[in-house]
Amino acid sequence: MAELTLPKNSKVQKGRHFAYDGEAEKPRTFRIYRYDPSADELPRMDTYDIDLADSGPMVLDAILHIIDTIDPSLALRRSCREGVCGSCAMNINGTNKLACLTHIDELKSGEVRLSPLPHLKVIKDLVGDLRTLYAQLELIEPWLQNDQAEPERERLQLPEDRDKLDGEYECILCFCCATACPSYWWSGEQYLGPAILLQAHRWLVDSRDDRTGERLDALDDPFRLYRCHTIMNCTNACPKGLNPAKAIADTKRMLARRG
Ligand code: SF4
Ligand code: SF4
Ligand code: FES
Repeated sequence: MAELTLPKNSKVQKGRHFAYDGEAEKPRTFRIYRYDPSADELPRMDTYDIDLADSGPMVLDAILHIIDTIDPSLALRRSCREGVCGSCAMNINGTNKLACLTHIDELKSGEVRLSPLPHLKVIKDLVGDLRTLYAQLELIEPWLQNDQAEPERERLQLPEDRDKLDGEYECILCFCCATACPSYWWSGEQYLGPAILLQAHRWLVDSRDDRTGERLDALDDPFRLYRCHTIMNCTNACPKGLNPAKAIADTKRMLARRG
């Protein structure tokens, strides 16, 4: 019988417990994934008991409080603290979310479990490796390509053409969707996944762009586009309420229409 062995770093150990020293007014426990691939140690879940009375109301506030007052070795990625940069995306109690937009009081009671976005290599702790996703973004050439003479001011667009970008330009590239997509988990090297395909669609429907044909050619591939099986995890995962699955379906329609 075949013997299956899990990779060494898939076994998560019980980690350290940082108990609260004293009587907390609003006690809450955070269990946080810790892993440093450069150290010869298995991943572990460390436990931090904190008093929410000392921290801000969002999950990101609690993590920063832990870093500032308990454990400065904990790594995370963040910048804007207001849902704009996309960098604080992580898995919170089993769901991909932005830590800066997730209210601690809205989570179900009990421990708050934090881990990096799923199915990414881990750089350290809560920081996933986004290099493949950024290489895929580059592949779809996410910038305006237009052969007309440079306008003196802006390139004009009819209001109804501008409306077509709504629901797409708002994407902050947090990758909550791509890392929630089973097709991307299994074929992430070849399948572009919902975040990149939403970006691709945003340029396909931009009336100012002249490269629609070439852009469709680049997507007309059994792996890059057609690995989407309309499971819809992506749309459920998007913290900005966008619908990558719809953009992917429309891209498939555009390809079918042109034959
Ligand atoms: S709809 Fe497509 S892209 Fe979205 S989760 Fe499902 S397979 Fe992935
Ligand atoms: S579509 Fe939503 S979940 Fe996906 S990268 Fe953009 S903002 Fe994030
Ligand atoms: S820190 Fe920028 S989206 Fe959360």
